[in-house]
Amino acid sequence: MTGNRIVVTGASSFIGRHLMPYLVQNGYTRLVAVTRSAGKIESIDPSLELAEGDILDPVFLLGLLNTDDVLINLLHIPKGSSEHYQNDNFRVAENLMASARSNRPKLILHCSTTEVVGRTMESSVTEQTTCHPINDYQKLKLAIEHRLLDFSKETGIPVAILRLSEVFGPGGRGLNSIIQTLAQGSRINNLWKTFILGNRRTHYIHISKVLSAFYQVMHLDSRDSPLSLIVADDVPDNHYRRVAREILESYGKKGCLSPVSVPNAIVKLYFRFFKYSLDCSYTISGGKMAEVGVSFSTTFRQDLRSYLDWYKVNAGK
Ligand SMILES: NC(=O)c1ccc[n+]([C@@H]2O[C@H](COP(=O)([O-])OP(=O)(O)OC[C@H]3O[C@@H](n4cnc5c(N)ncnc54)[C@H](OP(=O)(O)O)[C@@H]3O)[C@@H](O)[C@H]2O)c1
Repeated sequence: MTGNRIVVTGASSFIGRHLMPYLVQNGYTRLVAVTRSAGKIESIDPSLELAEGDILDPVFLLGLLNTDDVLINLLHIPKGSSEHYQNDNFRVAENLMASARSNRPKLILHCSTTEVVGRTMESSVTEQTTCHPINDYQKLKLAIEHRLLDFSKETGIPVAILRLSEVFGPGGRGLNSIIQTLAQGSRINNLWKTFILGNRRTHYIHISKVLSAFYQVMHLDSRDSPLSLIVADDVPDNHYRRVAREILESYGKKGCLSPVSVPNAIVKLYFRFFKYSLDCSYTISGGKMAEVGVSFSTTFRQDLRSYLDWYKVNAGK
């Protein structure tokens, strides 16, 4: 597979900026970074081939793919950046599929989100959980997943959908607000926050695990076609209290962690009463990752610590 060309759309994204050097380090020499602005990419790795253009233009994409390429789609046009948010994102998907139909890539790897589940009463979310998306982002991401999966069934072109939970790592936004809140919070505030939120599940996953998942999915010997996979760190200590403890210890504020927290059952009841998303209490299961053979070499705690070390030196630079 390292001989295949990889075309990455949304190459300048947070995930793309990590993914491309990672693939280069892992033996991929033929990488095409698709972007609207080459300047954003040139600094990442001078060896990357650039394809500068507008992905909303169907002609631009048609000429871009070759047979046997791997197409990794990280692109998502954010709500604020387009008046035609829904239409534009659908057009991107349609253009990708039209290009794939003509050029038959080896694999399309599309990045989605665990958020597509929307409002759920289940305590463990898996790929099989029925989705009830409630906001535009969730609805759009789910609709695009469906289109790609139908496309794969219709054309026989393998599609793998990776649903990511909240990714953190250098240059990203995940985790930053909780670090800022706790690092700058007064003792009383932090005790209160960790008392109320302590048992809330969090769904953080370190960028290194996301990269590793992409790589491993690309190398699966036998791939369900199409494959839909949740990429999440569903370890028991992926909860607010563990995250808060690491942050407070790292900032020398050990005494700011409340010794007890409101039991999860009460938080759950509260949310159930208001028929709201149980996002505070459900776990996101990465069970299928293990089933298909995707595994990771670092623990959640190691990931948290390594990010905190990076953040303390680099935040605000
Ligand atoms: N970050 C997370 O925690 C997370 C969690 C779950 C799922 N995801 C999914 O993972 C993917 C990557 O996420 P990310 O956070 O790394 O993305 P990001 O940093 O927000 O970047 C998105 C990319 O979309 C492109 N883009 C933005 N506006 C555009 C427009 N108007 N026209 C064309 N292209 C436009 C940009 O590429 P250019 O400017 O170079 O053209 C940019 O690199 C997305 O699909 C996202 O939904 C991310």
